Amino acid sequence: MSSTATKEGWGTRVGLVLAMAGNAVGLGNFLRFPVQAIQNGGGSFIIPYLVCFLLMGIPLLFIEWSMGRFGGKFGHHSTPFILDSLAPKQSLWKYIGVFGIFTNIAVAAYYCYLESWALGYVWNSISGTFTGLDRTGVANVFVEYTGLNGPQPYFFWLICLVLNTYILSKGLSGGVEKVAMVGMPLLIVFGIFLAVRGISLQAGTNGAEFNGTEGLNFLWTPNFDTIWSPKVWLAAAGQIFFTLSVGMGSIQCYASYLREKDDVALNAMSAGWMNEFVEVVLGGAVLIPITVGYFGIDGMKALVNEVGGLGLGFRTLPYLFQQWGPILAIIAGVAWFGLLFFAGITSSLAMGTPVMGFLQNEFNWKRGSSALAFGVIVFVLGLPTVVFFQYGVFDEYDYWAGTVSLVVFALFETILFAWIFGIKRGWAEIISGADIKVPIIFKYIILVVTPLLLGWVFVSSLPGIWDQITQVKLNNDLLTATGAEAEKIKNTIFFQNISRLLLLALWVGIASLVYVAYRKRKLNENVHNNVNA
Ligand code: PHE
Repeated sequence: MSSTATKEGWGTRVGLVLAMAGNAVGLGNFLRFPVQAIQNGGGSFIIPYLVCFLLMGIPLLFIEWSMGRFGGKFGHHSTPFILDSLAPKQSLWKYIGVFGIFTNIAVAAYYCYLESWALGYVWNSISGTFTGLDRTGVANVFVEYTGLNGPQPYFFWLICLVLNTYILSKGLSGGVEKVAMVGMPLLIVFGIFLAVRGISLQAGTNGAEFNGTEGLNFLWTPNFDTIWSPKVWLAAAGQIFFTLSVGMGSIQCYASYLREKDDVALNAMSAGWMNEFVEVVLGGAVLIPITVGYFGIDGMKALVNEVGGLGLGFRTLPYLFQQWGPILAIIAGVAWFGLLFFAGITSSLAMGTPVMGFLQNEFNWKRGSSALAFGVIVFVLGLPTVVFFQYGVFDEYDYWAGTVSLVVFALFETILFAWIFGIKRGWAEIISGADIKVPIIFKYIILVVTPLLLGWVFVSSLPGIWDQITQVKLNNDLLTATGAEAEKIKNTIFFQNISRLLLLALWVGIASLVYVAYRKRKLNENVHNNVNA
């Protein structure tokens, strides 16, 4: 056990829960959730979503929290060796654990860029960039920003990377926890302000054509038309993974800094439910009602198809805020982008800790240098997402790391926990030190239902994954495209392939480090044994 690792820990219980909630609450809650809901039929999305939360989300929270605390007892702070500690005799599990570092780095690579847009847009809201602009004008700001016209996007991106590195270098209680204690309450205040504005939007005032509540009806009126569509279920499951940060490796890492006697059950529920509150209550009451207020439901659907979720958040909303008068426009802009920024940074910090834990544990790096290493890796891997954003590098990272990898990891860790480590010991871990009585039904859900559901999600994703690998859609589009359009598709195919190579190299790189670390451990053990003999 390295000495640097033992010093690290959480300050207070409130701090821990807020940090864990901050880990989960992210851009996913305010941008990804509404867009998934819009694209999957609003009221027909919510039911599968809630079912997935109960049958996969909550069980995975219990599994990951208790698994993390268990690994922490042996001084492990990242998934390769946390998983290894659950099945010490089966040496392959640590390579499944590689996903728990890989995903964090690969997601951070595009996530920090997005986070920096939010920061940049706080600045642009305050400095009045959008004041007096019409719809195309506001949209152009976005096109120029992502097209990297001018130094702004680079500037804010670098600021974000430096901020993340700096906070991480201050440690858990000295950095991450402090940011969560300030950022989370602020985010909730901003969210409530925007939600109230969204819901109270009246047709005929402030240029709105519909009532904001129509957006709420869209989301909350149960609709059974597509309830059996696998596509909707896959989207719901994917959203649950992404938003709760399960299947990522970051929860295990945060939990590995708990003390042996600490509760996991109540903490996991507090952080998990806080995420759901922020997602369905606040996240569902901002983007959708405001957009519906101005464009109606069909208009909103068309808009999502045209500009995507990021477009809705970054090019449509700042324009709509302008309809509220100059002062409110600035306040709303700061609230919306400030909220996105806090949501983002408390999540990207969580992506940094497993990487740092690994370097500190296995290679005896200091906290500062491991934070710096994370910053540099994210810079290098993130650069293509910034520079070649137009060619879908960003989306490619998001697909492999933010969608596929989570499911694979979650499936295997559940099997490991319930079937290899064994549900008896697993359940004992979950309820040990628990401050609530966990309903026994979860024991059986974890044993049977969660692995089956995860297996089903994985298997039904395979055709889609295959299409993505073979780039079917792009190749089809290429058949009919000509001129500049064809050129763009060709470039996209090229940059997608480069992104895949980068991600593959990242995975293999981490796996090699895990191998080296494992050899080192074995060697040390032998030396130790010989000395003792
Ligand atoms: N859960 C975060 C969100 O909703 C994303 C995240 C991914 C956080 C990976 C931590 C690790 O945006």
